[in-house]
Amino acid sequence: MSPSRTRPIPVTVLFLVALAGCESPPGPEVLEGQGEGGAAWIEGDVDERFQQVGDQFAGFSATMFEVAHRYRELHWAVADSNWPYADYQVEKIAAAIELGIIRRPGRAESAESLFLGEPVERFRAALQEGDAEAIEGEYQEFTAACNQCHVAEDMEFVMVGPPAERSTVVQPGGANR
Ligand code: HEC
Repeated sequence: MSPSRTRPIPVTVLFLVALAGCESPPGPEVLEGQGEGGAAWIEGDVDERFQQVGDQFAGFSATMFEVAHRYRELHWAVADSNWPYADYQVEKIAAAIELGIIRRPGRAESAESLFLGEPVERFRAALQEGDAEAIEGEYQEFTAACNQCHVAEDMEFVMVGPPAERSTVVQPGGANR
């Protein structure tokens, strides 16, 4: 046995361990941040705080903001024959809309009947097959499904289509690595 094992534990260490064990659960007085910083803007009792955090998630327009980004990326993934990236974006678009209809259940019927079923499943199946022509066709069907839902939801003035320019992700092999 080494001598260090028998050395007594210093009192200060015992004190700190005891203190950590007694730490009380976070309460109103310990939300971090003052003024503009941290979470100090979240005020009131627990229900009021959840309400304020819920408001920050926003509604379906926040969902569509994400979906629009992913739809642009999807176009370039298809153009680059980058099927795994295209499948990733289709999956994320569907997941974003599924979360969106939890927050805004009034949009659920259109989302489920016009978009989340067949258009998503057929697109993903085509991507698994890897047939470029079929995938291009499914991209167009997918776009049509976006627009059909906009019509159904009285948003017919939002007509989406393929983007003219790339934004973030470049063609595989085309980046400055
Ligand atoms: C539930 C049916 C539904 C589906 C499916 C849907 N949208 Fe939307 N979209 C909406 C609604 C509703 C709004 C308006 C949201 C609001 O303001 O509350 C909207 C708004 C938008 C906007 C404007 C967002 C903004 O505020 O700048 C864009 C862009 C958009 N959608 C793109 C798409 C794309 C791309 C798809 C398909 C990949 C799609 N949407 C699928 C219902 C849908």
